[in-house]
Amino acid sequence: MEKEINIAILGSGNGSNAQRIAEYFKDNSQIKISTIISNKKDAYIITRAENLNIPCRYFNRNDFYNTDNVLNYLKEKEIDYVILAGFLWLVPDNLLKAFPQRIINIHPALLPNYGGKGMYGSHVHESVIANKEKESGITIHFVDENYDQGQTIFQAKCQINPDDTADTLAQKIHLLEYEYFPKVIEQVVANQNFNNN
Ligand code: GAR
Repeated sequence: MEKEINIAILGSGNGSNAQRIAEYFKDNSQIKISTIISNKKDAYIITRAENLNIPCRYFNRNDFYNTDNVLNYLKEKEIDYVILAGFLWLVPDNLLKAFPQRIINIHPALLPNYGGKGMYGSHVHESVIANKEKESGITIHFVDENYDQGQTIFQAKCQINPDDTADTLAQKIHLLEYEYFPKVIEQVVANQNFNNN
């Protein structure tokens, strides 16, 4: 039998990607979304986790940066991969060391453009529109110690029309995210675990 792969999703906000990923893997015999973690106490991602019946935990800044509380929880849950889906803090060193090439982020633009500190969610789309770009897209990448700089795994593009706003662009980007993020996660897991079975 294939080894079960446990995934933790980290988020800070709405959690629509987290929900999409959880639904995609719901009937998967190998890959399981074992927990959802929020760093915001009142984030809607927590309600989504409850509705999905996925164990959910809130951790604060101190838990992430001054203790091993998050790491210990991930170990307790036997987590293999950490997925950042709208998670807005830098990943601390203890987690980077524990999950080499096993922390994956999605960014709502074509990195290396429109990345870095402060570039998240609607801020990204507002900048892209303000600069009159003709296209944008998504970047799925491994996470390192810098914002939005780890190795790119996958990108997909969308066109921007003259009448697009930050809101309509956000909708286009979300559709790309929902289509590709779960599949890319599945691919990475399959590739990395091919030799272990
Ligand atoms: C997504 O568009 C994601 O790419 C972005 O936040 C949104 C979260 O939406 N992430 C970043 O900007 C990270 N720099 P969701 O909470 O509904 O999934």
